[in-house]
Amino acid sequence: MFQAAAKSLVFALNTPISRGILVNIRRYCKETPIKLRISEALSGAELGENVKVEGWVRSVRAQRANLFLHVNDGSSLQSLQIVATSELNDPSLTFGSAVEVTGRLKKSPHQKQPVELEAEQILVVGECNPVDFPFKIKERHGLEYIRHFPHLRCRTNAFSSLLRIRSEAAAAIHSYFKENGFVQIHTPVITSNDCEGAGELFQVEPSGPEKTEEDDYFFSVPTFLTVSGQLHLEVMSGAFSRVYTFGPTFRAENSQSRRHLAEFYMVEAEVSFTHSLEDLMKVMEDVFRSATEHVLARCAADVDLFHKHVTPGHRNDVDAMLKRKFSVMTYTEAIDVLKRSSQTFVFPVDWGCDLQTEHEKHLVKHCGNIPVFVTDYPYNLKPFYARDNLDHPKHTTAAVDLLVPGVGELCGGTLREERLDLLSARLQQAGLEDTYSWYLDLRRFGSVPHGGFGLGFERYLQCILGVDNIKDVIPFPRVSGTCLL
Ligand code: 4AD
Repeated sequence: MFQAAAKSLVFALNTPISRGILVNIRRYCKETPIKLRISEALSGAELGENVKVEGWVRSVRAQRANLFLHVNDGSSLQSLQIVATSELNDPSLTFGSAVEVTGRLKKSPHQKQPVELEAEQILVVGECNPVDFPFKIKERHGLEYIRHFPHLRCRTNAFSSLLRIRSEAAAAIHSYFKENGFVQIHTPVITSNDCEGAGELFQVEPSGPEKTEEDDYFFSVPTFLTVSGQLHLEVMSGAFSRVYTFGPTFRAENSQSRRHLAEFYMVEAEVSFTHSLEDLMKVMEDVFRSATEHVLARCAADVDLFHKHVTPGHRNDVDAMLKRKFSVMTYTEAIDVLKRSSQTFVFPVDWGCDLQTEHEKHLVKHCGNIPVFVTDYPYNLKPFYARDNLDHPKHTTAAVDLLVPGVGELCGGTLREERLDLLSARLQQAGLEDTYSWYLDLRRFGSVPHGGFGLGFERYLQCILGVDNIKDVIPFPRVSGTCLL
């Protein structure tokens, strides 16, 4: 591209006065290689040109006359094959070393790769001792093994694929909301409320001697890392009919489970002027479908790596999820299904009990291994903001969870209690009326029926990739008992 531009410039400058400049431009064109990312080089766009690529060596094979390298820079799963004469070999050209390679891009005689780079110069930018390096050439290391090296695991194929998929999935989620008229709100990380009321809060204080007096608080009140951006989204939903947020969320859950993190990313949406859980369920299902279809199309090779080598056979499960409409059942029906099941559960099942992972997984199986919405949970199981289903014979709320294969709960949502008298009574009962006086104001001034949900982004990735442990789908996992890096 640069050379084409330079050629036009050469044409424009072809006057006696500019001959000197021309000579220099020609020399520059000849000597300065075009810098390409590996994915650009593999696309074959600059075939025949003098190019430069930079990356990390993924394989080295030295023959008598030739040297073959594979170099990767994270732009694609596929690495670029470098072919060089053995004079360019160097003992520091090892698996994991960082290199800069200049040469001519050619069509490859092998079917495995469309192009290869015939190297004229190979520069080792950063050496890598293959004995000490925890990953070995040609070995496929398991996710559990590479988890021990959070500072290095991005250099493996599996984890770099995961990171590209994660990046595309996040972009697809933002696109979905943008295309559907949602306004993105940056909700705060530091907050003075406990949205879920579960007390799983990390308190935020400047480091230093412990503060006990109220006056000593940095913000004059106790503050926490957010457990959910919902209440801040609800503020905005008093002026914007569709809002969403997508950011880090924190829970001081002392859990070592395969689906809980102390820091995770949550996608949250809030829709105004809605009376029905169906509206929320439609958004949840649409986000899931559009993000998944986008990822399958844009990261085909990366997803294939997971579905072939990490979680064999999982592609069929994903296709089945996309083919069929998600199921729906009420909580009361779910309890019936669980009670009628021949499976023995660790946690007893009775109307009013919270659904445990084992129950959720059973319900998903019962529905043919496709996602299932469970609606209308008991009133006492949901936080203060959930809308009271006054017309139901059993005391329930307009709440819905989306349960998915392999994971269990992926989304949790509710219609919000928009009726001032009912909300005020519930807050009073919980002794929270003063704390949430601002929240009651939202019901005093132009209150509308509204609702929303939160989707756990890491659980979403676990679900589509079939990854068993949530620590394997986030760059730097945070769980109780350890904080590496
Ligand atoms: O069901 P939750 O707690 O819902 C809320 O926080 C609502 N205030 C959201 C809203 O309505 N705006 O959390 C939503 C989702 C869960 O379904 C789960 O997927 C994920 O967040 N999640 C976690 N993911 C990883 N680690 C944890 N500790 C999680 N806790 C919840």
